[in-house]
Amino acid sequence: MGQKHICILSGAGMSADSGLQTFRDSNGLWKQHRYEELASPQAWEDDPELVHEFYNMRRKQLGQVEPNAAHKALFLLEEKYEVSIVTQNVDDLHERAGSKNILHLHGELRKARSEVNPDYIVDIEYDKLTIEDKDPDGHKLRPHIVWFGESVDAFDDAIELVRNCDVLIIIGTSLQVYPAASLVNYAPQDADIYYIDPKAQEYMQMSNVKIIQGKASDRVPELVRELMK
Ligand code: APR
Repeated sequence: MGQKHICILSGAGMSADSGLQTFRDSNGLWKQHRYEELASPQAWEDDPELVHEFYNMRRKQLGQVEPNAAHKALFLLEEKYEVSIVTQNVDDLHERAGSKNILHLHGELRKARSEVNPDYIVDIEYDKLTIEDKDPDGHKLRPHIVWFGESVDAFDDAIELVRNCDVLIIIGTSLQVYPAASLVNYAPQDADIYYIDPKAQEYMQMSNVKIIQGKASDRVPELVRELMK
């Protein structure tokens, strides 16, 4: 019997305890900004400098925070399990905690890509982007983020990972954004499914899901200790 496969589906709540704001909590990012002004192709068309400003602020903040106990606990799982992380987060905290197999459904804050050639992608770490930054053909670089209205190209790969897991652990997502939220429906019938979130009771009605109410940095290490026994 090979190693069991654990699939993680993480959202903004995974990084909340590192100091990064979530989107839909009371002090969430979308509360301060109207997202259609910032995270959409229309916003990029209308005011690329404003869009750069929004992501430059978030990228700078990312360079100032660290992975939390939840990110680090998920790395420990790799000693005993095959672990695939499907994240809606655009931060690099799973990477910095040491996790190997990470699929970013909504892009990566550290990366920029040509607005014309989708294969031209560069890692700019936590630096700022301006409209002067261009690809070799002279086209503007844009944040490598999936904006509202754009397709989630990694979704089919994410489905395959969830379809083939023995354990699915959903952490820190309100499950309100599709298609990411529908991933839970692809888990095998006999998979163990956990949902870790301070509002888990409110958000999860599925009967076959083990609800764990609480913060990721408290509850994920506890669950990992159980799974490592
Ligand atoms: N630990 C764990 N979960 C937490 C914590 C914490 N300390 N604090 C808040 N949460 C939970 C909230 O209860 C909520 O369920 O994190 C979740 C955050 O939900 P959202 O803000 O909606 O974030 P997310 O689900 O990741 O949003 C999905 O929406 O705006 C788009 O592209 C963006 O990837 C994002 C997507």
